[in-house]
Amino acid sequence: MTTTRWDADSLRARFDRVRSETEQLAAPLSPEDQTVQTMPDVSPTKWHRAHVTWFFETFVLADHEPGFAPYQDTYWFLFNSYYEAIGPRYARPDRGFITRPGAHDVGVYRHNVDDRMRDLFTTLDAGTLDKVAPIIELGFHHEQQHQELLLMDIKHVLSRNPLQPVYAGVPAPRSVPDDLGWVDVEGGLVEVGYEGEGFRFDNEEPRHRVWLEPYRLADRLVTNGEWLEFMADNGYGRPELWLSDGWARVKADSWRAPFYWADLDGGWFEHTLHGTFPVDLGLPVSHVSFYEAEAFATWAGKRLPTESEWEHAVVQDGHGGHDGQGGDDDRDGQDAVGNLADTQTFHPRAAGPATGRLRQVYGDCWEWTSSAYHPYPGFHPAPGAIGEYNGKFMSNQMVLRGGCALTPAGHARATYRNFFPHAARWALSGVRLADGGAPLRVEGAGR
Ligand SMILES: [Fe+2]
Repeated sequence: MTTTRWDADSLRARFDRVRSETEQLAAPLSPEDQTVQTMPDVSPTKWHRAHVTWFFETFVLADHEPGFAPYQDTYWFLFNSYYEAIGPRYARPDRGFITRPGAHDVGVYRHNVDDRMRDLFTTLDAGTLDKVAPIIELGFHHEQQHQELLLMDIKHVLSRNPLQPVYAGVPAPRSVPDDLGWVDVEGGLVEVGYEGEGFRFDNEEPRHRVWLEPYRLADRLVTNGEWLEFMADNGYGRPELWLSDGWARVKADSWRAPFYWADLDGGWFEHTLHGTFPVDLGLPVSHVSFYEAEAFATWAGKRLPTESEWEHAVVQDGHGGHDGQGGDDDRDGQDAVGNLADTQTFHPRAAGPATGRLRQVYGDCWEWTSSAYHPYPGFHPAPGAIGEYNGKFMSNQMVLRGGCALTPAGHARATYRNFFPHAARWALSGVRLADGGAPLRVEGAGR
């Protein structure tokens, strides 16, 4: 039996690295910080730390550890997120009610599973390694997804504290707004989706053909300054700019600005992970819902890109190919450079000088597309519980592309499909405009 791309030592090194990165992100947070759940979408930090551990215990150790027994039967119940095939689980909106196990106990749980995983790495024969390595690798990327969620969630937790506590990081220097440019794309019969040997989630496959009319993409994200123009033009008060469901949310939830903006003494301030500051006009607008992104595009006389347009333009413009820009064990996605979490900015940055090419492709803000999150033609979820990872969420969500300033480096690629419900605002999401090609919803409804 031979292995092709798996090596137990390098897998173990990646395991140690991903696990320690989670703990580094949690390190600035007190046990109390790690316990609070401020809304149903937010999970406590210690829950994230435990759940990613449960993932390795459930999907790796349970099948491959000799004499396996769960660390705690109750943890099996508490830290299952949504896997029906694994069994009953604790209600998501109530995760903040769980004071025990505490943050320290979760650390002990993590150490226990880390030790057992390291033992496993030393005993795997080649045939078992071939079987289990793809699940272990999925565990790395799963943990990275939760690293991003941990940061999005603690941002909300800290935003609810009138003392305006700071998580970490330092603000970038005040930006200098620049003009928006456009990148023309020919379109035609193109291929999108993942093809290659590196890591990808099942929802990025199969690679398939789509037809694109000629179109163009904005060369940078929409800025706070442009969003203020939309607000000044009564953007949140004009139903003709909004999809019906979006307008209902505007009215029901009294939306009048992006999620983390506050009107303090007549000026707009923004809550960030490194403090609360006056809104910086040249930074990308962030924490807007799909509905807001779509209304803004309508107001501007433009539209949102489809996910195929986004992916094709990004690849055409030289920002990575369909194989995920990497592929060997340690370098998945390393060519997807941008303002990702490794910059420690934890907030979008200004686009920088125009280059004639697309800017802010990876990092900064997840970019809403006009594409519903549906399976690609020929998509098949994996058999068993792990098949619940992505496929069952392909309803009532929209696709976002590109990653954000909270996305771990190595976790962004051209074919990556993120997804959130239309009204979600706590995710670090922003807007890139498109024009041409697909029809505008309301042509010329803007200024
Ligand atoms: Fe998860």
